[in-house]
Amino acid sequence: MPRVPLIAGNWKMYKTVPEARDLATALVNSDLPAAVEVAVCPPFTALAEVGRVLTGSAVRLGAQDVFWEPQGAYTGEISPPMLADLRCHYVIVGHSERRQHFEESDEVVTRKVRASFSQGLVPILCVGERLEERDTGQTERVVTRQVEIVIAVLPPEQIRPLVIAYEPVWAIGTGRAATGQEANRVIGLIRETLGRKDAEAAAQARILYGGSVTPANAAEFSQQPEIDGALVGGASLDAPKFLAIVAAHGKSRA
Ligand code: PGA
Repeated sequence: MPRVPLIAGNWKMYKTVPEARDLATALVNSDLPAAVEVAVCPPFTALAEVGRVLTGSAVRLGAQDVFWEPQGAYTGEISPPMLADLRCHYVIVGHSERRQHFEESDEVVTRKVRASFSQGLVPILCVGERLEERDTGQTERVVTRQVEIVIAVLPPEQIRPLVIAYEPVWAIGTGRAATGQEANRVIGLIRETLGRKDAEAAAQARILYGGSVTPANAAEFSQQPEIDGALVGGASLDAPKFLAIVAAHGKSRA
């Protein structure tokens, strides 16, 4: 079975509820290619409203983060059952902005991945090297380790549906994307890492590229054999740009 490409929009800390409603409405009213899966990850405050707009459409809802406990005295946190209740399908876990600004460790990321699966949510696990790690030749080691730590505790049935986003930190929000070739190489390594645990997981798990994906470079990534789609930040805030990225992936799989 070929892997269906996934284009997921990470809206980060942008969009009030009315703005989120307008953006989601523009997406559901457009002609989306059937060969591509599309998801949007609005801020928590807009999940319910965007979920309402997406009802009956093929666009899936995702959250940007989650806490690992199902409930309790954790002021400010949002639990997996709360996201499942809002009919989230995906949840981004371990985004580099969470790792950097909120000091999320691999251990925390792992807990969040497990907790997400326990509620039927599909995690989009983000990994990627920082600039100084890349400059000192550590990309492979860093990325492999980030993946290995998480999959070590997962049964094969949970590694197979997992989505991984390879997002080099130096490429996020900088306008300086990796080349298609570079991203394809690292994603191939991630796939090999999955394969060491479970061959079927390597064949099935979708691995996306993220970091300054735009309509101008989307085709370059979509044509790479190892890359199964994109996690899009800035360009997902604008419906025509996001739709152009989706269309580029639809074309290369047509
Ligand atoms: P960007 O963000 O597309 O704005 O670089 C990607 C991400 O953070 O997922």
